[in-house]
Amino acid sequence: MSMPPAPALELEDLHVASSDGISILHGVSLSLSPGEVLGLVGESGCGKSMTGATAMGMLPPGLSLRSGKVRIGGQEVQDLDELALSRLRGQKIALIPQDATASLNPTKTIGKHLTEGLRRHRGMSPEAALTGARELLERVGLTPAEKWLREYPHQLSGGMNQRVAIARALTGAPDILIADEPTTALDVTTQAQILDLLLGLARTRNLALLFVTHDLGVVAQIADRVAVMYCGRVVETAPVKAFFAAPLHPYSAGLRASIPPLDARRTIVPLPGTVPTPGALPEGCAFHPRCGRVLEQCRKDRPPLEAFGAGKVACYAARAPA
Ligand SMILES: Nc1ncnc2c1ncn2[C@@H]1O[C@H](COP(=O)(O)OP(=O)(O)OP(=O)(O)O)[C@@H](O)[C@H]1O
Ligand SMILES: [Mg+2]
Repeated sequence: MSMPPAPALELEDLHVASSDGISILHGVSLSLSPGEVLGLVGESGCGKSMTGATAMGMLPPGLSLRSGKVRIGGQEVQDLDELALSRLRGQKIALIPQDATASLNPTKTIGKHLTEGLRRHRGMSPEAALTGARELLERVGLTPAEKWLREYPHQLSGGMNQRVAIARALTGAPDILIADEPTTALDVTTQAQILDLLLGLARTRNLALLFVTHDLGVVAQIADRVAVMYCGRVVETAPVKAFFAAPLHPYSAGLRASIPPLDARRTIVPLPGTVPTPGALPEGCAFHPRCGRVLEQCRKDRPPLEAFGAGKVACYAARAPA
């Protein structure tokens, strides 16, 4: 019997806090297998980007990892020195940042962004890097590549810069790609192209893809598994089929009901209330003030994330016998 593949990326009990002691991530654990697409969803501010940033070892100034572990290809990142870490970033794990335009250097051409990555990560000669840059631009749909190589980021639309950011993330042929809302600024046709490209990489090159999005429709299209975050915690993870058949957590069910339906007969029901700020989380389950299934225990105790059905859920109501 063959062993299941070792996870490409493992996040174990990540606690991230700001310098003034406000907790942003409260024990986030996730794992991602080679070739797997994991959709990470949740409302704005729930910690999706900070989870991705922690995996990359690139938290913004003012935030730090207080405890927990990041393992990339079985290797514990905390054990590595700066040089080894910088190699890991790009060649093993890469990020398509949420704000693509801001991530590009305004003084460098698109060609330079890509050839630099190819030379640094893959040791290519200038000529080989130029050929590689053309190929990458074609893969993300920026054709004819020759034209785009010479342009600067400010000459491109947000959507085109997003494609450049994707091409740049691929310069190191990473095993793991964190794509933070990579299709948000794109029109529907381009979005479909980019999703095809990313999914193709997962299927044919065994790329492990952490796909951050607020768009459950996109998750349904491309993900194998879903992880739902709320207030800095993972509250549910499940295989995508099981999730869309019957989400376990009331928050997941609320998210599903609040998205524009594929099926026009279903109505949109917005989630009541707002996401609490990190410094002022309610006691017990952070979702309880917005929850339609709240139990007495939910107001006092914080439900742990535990195996249930085909996935895991952090909810007393979901686990209560019917
Ligand atoms: N540099 C920072 N310093 C302090 N707090 C921060 C910083 N960056 C983000 N936060 C806070 O961390 C929490 C999680 O933010 P994060 O960016 O991960 O959310 P998100 O789920 O990616 O949201 P969105 O869907 O809007 O991108 C938020 O409350 C945010 O205000
Ligand atoms: Mg974000």
